[in-house]
Amino acid sequence: MKNINKTRIITIDGPAGAGKTTVSRELASRLGCVYVDTGSLYRGVAYEVYRCNLNWHDDAELDTLLSSISFELKLHHGGLYRLFSSGQDITDYIRTPEITMLSSDLSAKAAVRQALLGFQREIAKISDAIFEGRDMGTVVFPDADYKFFLSADLNTRALRRYSEMNGSKTLDEIKQAIELRDNSDSSREIAPLKPAEDAIMVDSTNLNHGEVVDKILSYINQN
Ligand code: DC
Repeated sequence: MKNINKTRIITIDGPAGAGKTTVSRELASRLGCVYVDTGSLYRGVAYEVYRCNLNWHDDAELDTLLSSISFELKLHHGGLYRLFSSGQDITDYIRTPEITMLSSDLSAKAAVRQALLGFQREIAKISDAIFEGRDMGTVVFPDADYKFFLSADLNTRALRRYSEMNGSKTLDEIKQAIELRDNSDSSREIAPLKPAEDAIMVDSTNLNHGEVVDKILSYINQN
């Protein structure tokens, strides 16, 4: 029997460029629940570190910053959220190449992960949600109702990113940046990128987003 006091949580983990964002958004809209992009929170921390020109290798400095950070996800149109830090909308500033790599570096720090853990779990109490990230099924929501791990081969992921960009980077540069981030995200000691033991693996190399969404929905509907 469904526990009516519990929200339904679906986790989508996977490496950069596997299509998690597009798939999670579409799933959330089809299932009528919210979509939470947890990478944006790590990016938000990176943005604050960058903005304050903080020496994040210094644990005391990082702790001070983390205890002063106040994030809020505010619902925007289309069911999408925007990230506010101390009241300022920072959504448009967190996707630069510098912030992208810095967020990966910072995500290896225990203090950063710990600071974001409670925030993510609080959101899950409010509403049914799709949580997209790297450690959703393994660490943040080990009891999630459904766990998926989305992957695709490196060439395909790089090509997808390349087609989304305006030609400011070559395909090779994008491939290298993705590989660097994959290595850093999956080799860190704490909460590394890896599938949960009970995650359903979805390889999207030869599937378009719609086909991935259908595959995930058919699994959810059957289980
Ligand atoms: O999903 P993204 O590319 O926006 O994530 C940016 C970085 O944040 C990613 O390189 C690793 C980190 N991250 C993480 O460690 N755990 C998550 N749940 C989400 C993101």
